Amino acid sequence: LTERRIIIVSNRLPVKVVINKSGQFQLQPSEGGLATGLSSVYKRNDNLWIGWPGAFLDERQRAQVQPLLEAEKLLPVYLTEEEIAAYYEGFSNETLWPLYHYFPSYTLYKKDDWEMYCAVNRKFAEHVLRVAREEDIIWVHDYQLCLVPELIRQQLPNVTIGFFQHIPFPDFEIFRLLPWRKEILKGLLGADLIGFHTLDDTKHFIASCSRLLNLEVMMNRIVVEGREVMVDTFPMGIDFEKFQQWARKERTLQNERRLRSLVGSLKIMISVDRLDYSKGILNRLEAFEQLLDRYPHMRGKISFIQLVVPSRDQVPQYRWLKDEIDKKVSSINSRFSSFGWTPIYYFYRSFQMDMLSALYKTADIAMITPMRDGMNLVSKEYIASKIDPRGVLILSEMAGASKELLHAIIVNPNDIEAMVDALLQAIEMPEEEQVYRIRAMQEIIAKYNVYHWVNLFIETLEEVKQQQDKLT
Ligand code: UDP
Ligand code: G6P
Repeated sequence: LTERRIIIVSNRLPVKVVINKSGQFQLQPSEGGLATGLSSVYKRNDNLWIGWPGAFLDERQRAQVQPLLEAEKLLPVYLTEEEIAAYYEGFSNETLWPLYHYFPSYTLYKKDDWEMYCAVNRKFAEHVLRVAREEDIIWVHDYQLCLVPELIRQQLPNVTIGFFQHIPFPDFEIFRLLPWRKEILKGLLGADLIGFHTLDDTKHFIASCSRLLNLEVMMNRIVVEGREVMVDTFPMGIDFEKFQQWARKERTLQNERRLRSLVGSLKIMISVDRLDYSKGILNRLEAFEQLLDRYPHMRGKISFIQLVVPSRDQVPQYRWLKDEIDKKVSSINSRFSSFGWTPIYYFYRSFQMDMLSALYKTADIAMITPMRDGMNLVSKEYIASKIDPRGVLILSEMAGASKELLHAIIVNPNDIEAMVDALLQAIEMPEEEQVYRIRAMQEIIAKYNVYHWVNLFIETLEEVKQQQDKLT
């Protein structure tokens, strides 16, 4: 990889500041694919990560946590409660998130939120500009910071800027609904390279640029004021080796033994998602209920361990979803439970790696069925943790990962019948077939791991820059 310094910029740092039981500040890993995926790589050389540390702190508290963050090469951007309400909960998660995940009816278009989004993007850009030099590589991540590339470009015209979007980029007919669509595109086009997880996202972005901004497009290059910007597809991977190592750790093995003694000979299905309507949690519960309803011999044979990681609980749609999941789980459990058997074990909390790994290993089936997902790393983590290559992945065709994990059982999450059939197929799948499919997917995940993803993105970015320099 390059010897140049890489400055990563994202809304959330890979860790958040929390206060522990003895009243001291402590850093804890952040949830979500962006943080977990990139945290393996950013510590090389004198790289730096700029982002929000997930807490509201006063001056004295900031001084206290400074050494902790500095030791991890993290530079905090502190945000006020008002900024978080309008920029993060508002524009990022009530406008861009639902729209980009094809939930236009959930999308709010509030001018105040947009203005705060602009202001906070400026704040992030200012933090970057305080430390950045022209020879650095600045790598901006995700939909919360779409305006940052252009804001940096205005001050450092020759600096190398990459942007990667971890969520889908919607079709033009959806994207055009956004009142600030041109501003978002222009903001992104400040970058030299713009990356997405799938070819469709890439195509959608290019189509929107040409239709809304009338820009000249040559294949996957867009000409912006004489500068060529490249747009390309980089499916994000995971740290495969790390998941294999976790699967072998003593604490994981202990947890696995405990789990096995609890579940006995039951088939175990798991799902792991942040609380999010994009994750298809209610449809999956519906499919599980219909399985038990229509195939009574399945009762007492299979249990569903459902992990929901708390997320964005100040946003009304998320709170509503939490209530609906609570109701659905308790209705299924009260309807089908017997003295010896619980249909659903439901956890609303986050888990540490030694328990997550044990769950991935124990699960006969992982049912990962988002309505829409940029990539979905959980599906890859499940496969990577299978050092005993038995298990079945049921995966939504709406997840970016379905473009790579072709040996999963692929389903449409709106088709409840197909999901029930997929469950039956998974329950009955012969062991040789499970092993064959898992091994095939492991090969892909091991090869296209997160290091490969970072190297390819950064190498391409440097090439684009060199080409530009030659042309000028
Ligand atoms: N994860 C976590 N804490 C948990 C359970 C899961 O941090 O208790 C991680 C999981 O290992 C995965 C990430 O959260 O790396 C979720 O990423 P994914 O791409 O599947 O979805 P996202 O949350 O980014 O939408
Ligand atoms: C997704 C997004 C990330 C985000 C993560 C967790 O992975 O792509 O940008 O950080 O979800 O969401 P949160 O709102 O808690 O940061």
